[in-house]
Formats: sequence, C-alpha cells, structure tokens
Amino acid sequence: MKRFAVALLLATGMNLVYAGSDQQPGPNETKWKKECGSCHVAYPPRLMSAENWQGLMDGLDKHFGSNASLDAKDNKQILAFLKRNASNGNLYSSSSLRISDTPWFKREHHVIAAKEWDHADVKSRSNCESCHGATVLGS
Ligand code: HEC
Ligand code: HEC
Repeated sequence: MKRFAVALLLATGMNLVYAGSDQQPGPNETKWKKECGSCHVAYPPRLMSAENWQGLMDGLDKHFGSNASLDAKDNKQILAFLKRNASNGNLYSSSSLRISDTPWFKREHHVIAAKEWDHADVKSRSNCESCHGATVLGS
C-alpha cells in the first residue's frame, strides 16, 4: 500500500511496538498477532484501556460490521494478553471501543486536517499503516 504524504510529518523514531522488551513473544502474544492482525494491523494493546479491550473481546461476533469470533479458549488467552499490556484511564477509553475515538488519539493527531483523513490513501482513521507503515506498527 502506498504511504500517505503526511508520513513526512512523522517524527523519526516513532515507535508503535506495544512494548520495548526484547523478550521472546509468549504464546498469547503469538496468538493475538495471528488472530488480530489478519484483517488489519494488530492494534497495540497499550493504546486502549483494559475495560475497552474486555468490551471489544465480548462482542467479537459484531465487530465493527465483521464477525471476528474466536473459540472461548483463544478469546480468553488473547484478552489476558491485551489486558496485561493495556493502559489505564479516560485518555485511553472510548464508548465506541475504538482507539481512534479515544481522547489520547485525538490529542496526538490534532495536527491532521479533515482533508488528510479523507485522502484516498487513508480513508479511515483505523488505517494506521497508511501513515505509520506496518513495520513501525510492529506487526
Ligand atoms: C474478520 C476481520 C477482523 C478480525 C479477525 C479482527 N478485526 Fe478488528 N476490525 C475489523 C474491521 C472491519 C474494523 C473496522 C475498520 C474501520 O472502521 O476502518 C476493525 C476495527 C478494530 C478496532 C478499532 C480500530 C480503531 O479505529 O481504533 C480495534 C481496536 C480492533 N478492530 C481490534 C481487533 C482485535 C483485538 C482483534 C482480534 C481479537 C480483531 N480486531 C480482529 C475487522 C476484523
Ligand atoms: C492520516 C495519517 C495518520 C493515521 C491514519 C494515523 N496516524 Fe498516528 N500519527 C500521525 C501523525 C501526523 C502523528 C503526529 C506525529 C508527531 O506529532 O510527531 C501521529 C502520532 C501517533 C502516535 C504518537 C507518536 C509516537 O511516536 O508514538 C501514535 C502512537 C500513533 N499516531 C498511532 C496511531 C494508530 C494506532 C493509528 C490507527 C488507529 C494512527 N496512528 C493513525 C498520522 C496518522
């Protein structure tokens, strides 16, 4: 996918990897990357609250217009991983269960004009990789 021009604005050293550790990924993390990175980038757990991840994992059969259901065991393991790496507080929470609707996201992206969000290469705020690139997202 073509990188959107706003990427030029991005500060160097931007790091979306959820954790800075150099440990080997555990089985729950491997499962998360596989299951939650198949339709879109695996959104970093630290960008949403544990409560929001819980709500999202409870409603995977109606996941933003898609059915992303998992069996109970996989759901439990992925939720444990998400919660362990989640952030706390209102800054990282939204009733829509979208990272892109949290106060943190709005604050961090206030430099972006409406026409940039609507750009043909972006289209959706959820399309993180169009600006950040899949490699910086760590997935
Ligand atoms: C069958 C495809 C599919 C799978 C599998 C899937 N998703 Fe999604 N997800 C979507 C779609 C479609 C959207 C909405 C994208 C948009 O609005 O542009 C979405 C959106 C999201 C968002 C909101 C993004 C934002 O705007 O902040 C989060 C968070 C999310 N997914 C997490 C997950 C997690 C966690 C998993 C694994 C348990 C997962 N997804 C698995 C299809 C999927
Ligand atoms: C239209 C392009 C665009 C899209 C789409 C976009 N971002 Fe950003 N993002 C930016 C810009 C520009 C900044 C501000 C960079 C700065 O101030 O240095 C930023 C800042 C950030 C930062 C803070 C900077 C850092 O170094 O960590 C994070 C984290 C981030 N975005 C994550 C995301 C996630 C996750 C998504 C998808 C849910 C997303 N972004 C979607 C352009 C975008």
